[in-house]
Amino acid sequence: MSDKDRNEGPGVSRRDFLKIGGIAVAVPLVASPRVLQAAGKPVEVHGPYKAKISLNINTKQQFVEVDTRVTLLDVLRDTYQLTGAKRVCDRGACGACTVLMDDKPVYACSILAVDAQERKITTIEGIYPAETLDELQRAFVENDAQQCGFCTPGFIVSAKSFLDAHPRASAEEFKHGLSGNLCRCGTYQGMQLVAAAMTKGKGA
Ligand code: FES
Ligand code: FES
Repeated sequence: MSDKDRNEGPGVSRRDFLKIGGIAVAVPLVASPRVLQAAGKPVEVHGPYKAKISLNINTKQQFVEVDTRVTLLDVLRDTYQLTGAKRVCDRGACGACTVLMDDKPVYACSILAVDAQERKITTIEGIYPAETLDELQRAFVENDAQQCGFCTPGFIVSAKSFLDAHPRASAEEFKHGLSGNLCRCGTYQGMQLVAAAMTKGKGA
């Protein structure tokens, strides 16, 4: 086999690939797959590309064009400036990015925005549109259950969702309900007091 055959044999050669790369850079990233001509042959090129999607965020229907690899957290924070959900671990381990999807807490960093379509997304800004504090938020403040506060919105979203679903929960159950959230400042003593305050007089 000649060098030419080795380099340009059946399929897409390295030279063709470089040509395709050159073409792909010049093409607007709006649709996929695309069929490009490389050395006279059609070649299908998949992604990256943007898709127009519709998201229901805090009861508003929003339309946005996003790269299909973008997470729900990125869209919430970067497109809609809903910065209550925080990016900390960015890998589904800490709960700082917790939002509600169809009223259930989820890690927004671990969900693609395209997969959040036709779901009801609620961020902490949607749960608490007013600036006054409710009983749960006051319990965090009064019991010193935050230091830097970076994890706090995620804790509040999880706690509110848990209490709404389990109004008669015990303190132990409440703590279990928050087990998907981590606080790097270690404010768990304050959280114990929040658990006691929010479940006082309520049975298991
Ligand atoms: S930032 Fe999403 S779980 Fe940590
Ligand atoms: S208060 Fe700082 S991470 Fe929780």
